[in-house]
Amino acid sequence: MAERAFIEHLADYAGKEVTIQGWLYAKTGKGKLQFLQVRDGTGIMQCVIFKKEVTPEVFGAALRLTQESSLIVTGTIRADERAPGIPGGYEMGIRDLEVVQLVTDEYPITPKEHGIDFLMQNRHLWIRSARQWATLRVRATIIKAIRDWLDGHGFILMDAPILTPAACEGTTTLFETDYHGTPAYLSQSGQLYNEANIMAFGRVYCFGPTFRAEKSKTRRHIQEFWMVEPEAAYMDLWQNMEIQEQFVSSIVQTVLRERRKELELLDRDLSRLEKVEPPFPRIHYDEAVEMINKAAAEGVHVPPNDELVPAITWGEDLGAPHETHVAAQFDRPVFVHHYPTAVKAFYMAQEPERPETCRSSDLLAPEGFGEIIGGGERSGDLAFLEAQIDRQGLPREAYEWYLDLRRYGSVPHAGFGLGLERTVMWLCGLSHIRETIPYPRLLGRIYP
Ligand code: 4AD
Ligand code: MG
Repeated sequence: MAERAFIEHLADYAGKEVTIQGWLYAKTGKGKLQFLQVRDGTGIMQCVIFKKEVTPEVFGAALRLTQESSLIVTGTIRADERAPGIPGGYEMGIRDLEVVQLVTDEYPITPKEHGIDFLMQNRHLWIRSARQWATLRVRATIIKAIRDWLDGHGFILMDAPILTPAACEGTTTLFETDYHGTPAYLSQSGQLYNEANIMAFGRVYCFGPTFRAEKSKTRRHIQEFWMVEPEAAYMDLWQNMEIQEQFVSSIVQTVLRERRKELELLDRDLSRLEKVEPPFPRIHYDEAVEMINKAAAEGVHVPPNDELVPAITWGEDLGAPHETHVAAQFDRPVFVHHYPTAVKAFYMAQEPERPETCRSSDLLAPEGFGEIIGGGERSGDLAFLEAQIDRQGLPREAYEWYLDLRRYGSVPHAGFGLGLERTVMWLCGLSHIRETIPYPRLLGRIYP
């Protein structure tokens, strides 16, 4: 029995006979020579089968193979620069082939073009396709890079609950559920729990699924997304931004190092990602408004729909074309800080000299990928928080525990939330968020 090998490690087996267990991705060739593109979950490789080198049974089985049939191939690995695949550069000369299951129905996803609805309906199969596979491998590496950086910088993992009694990010996007007769909500953010946890552990992070009942279809919003939320005691807005730029740069550089082949398969322009190093530019919301209104006056258009940048009135939140225009002025992510207090969540600290602005920052990705991080310094002012809770129509009882944090050993503190799927979208260069998570929950779709 030849040793079992995985395609991603083929370089270790040049000249040796190995067994690969996988599926048939595609088949070409004619007559005596057949080329099988075989995938095994770790990569895709070319396996060559030559009539003279195998038994008639094995050659016959190869001829009958259909797309996505499962199979086990055994043969010698040869280095060949031209061999296609991922990582590529090696092919197998097949000596033996065993069909595990021959697919007899036509596999739904053929190499021809399919509409997006059809692909979403078949998402459980679509994830086998090379671009989807590459994207989800990048996602796994981003998650690992996130954890490694935080674990290595003194942040302790503290899981936050998913079922919660109160809103963190406003009441308009809550998913309500029944908690034994009491209304409960799927978590929009673990932040409020992080704020309790830092008073016990100093620096913490939570990393889990979060939920927003987003009522409009956009290319950047999904109903269920993953967010990593670091939080630290004795940290202000400026220190918060420093951590973010170190953290994001480290994630980008790790992905470039470990998932270059996947990014190349996705046709990502790597030179754009290579520029992502600290420091990131920081602009005040006032400056962003000026920049936007200048563009609006000059009639500047932005991708992806060549939309005119609309003018903005001081006090409004930035819309997608505004963010795209601001981000386009820089070659790396840009912080916009000091948004108007009125457009941000109830917990944001006011800027003492200008209380109509708050100590918040958003990090906007380059190339029009939009906001990837929201964060800021949290208010330590009990009376202000009580007033904010009332002003935003939130039920006071549900926040009593949170207000305790301002009564017992309150300290300046800050944190942020990075949206995982937005980050995958940016690093992979995707035009829509639906491909960044294995099973996206979209408005009007919960299957499969
Ligand atoms: O800006 P947001 O709403 O901030 C918070 O939830 C804070 N409590 C985080 C914190 O300070 N601990 O969301 C943070 C990030 C956004 O920048 C975006 O990347 C992502 O979460 N996000 C979404 N991603 C996909 N689909 C949605 N519907 C998203 N809503 C937010
Ligand atoms: Mg935000």
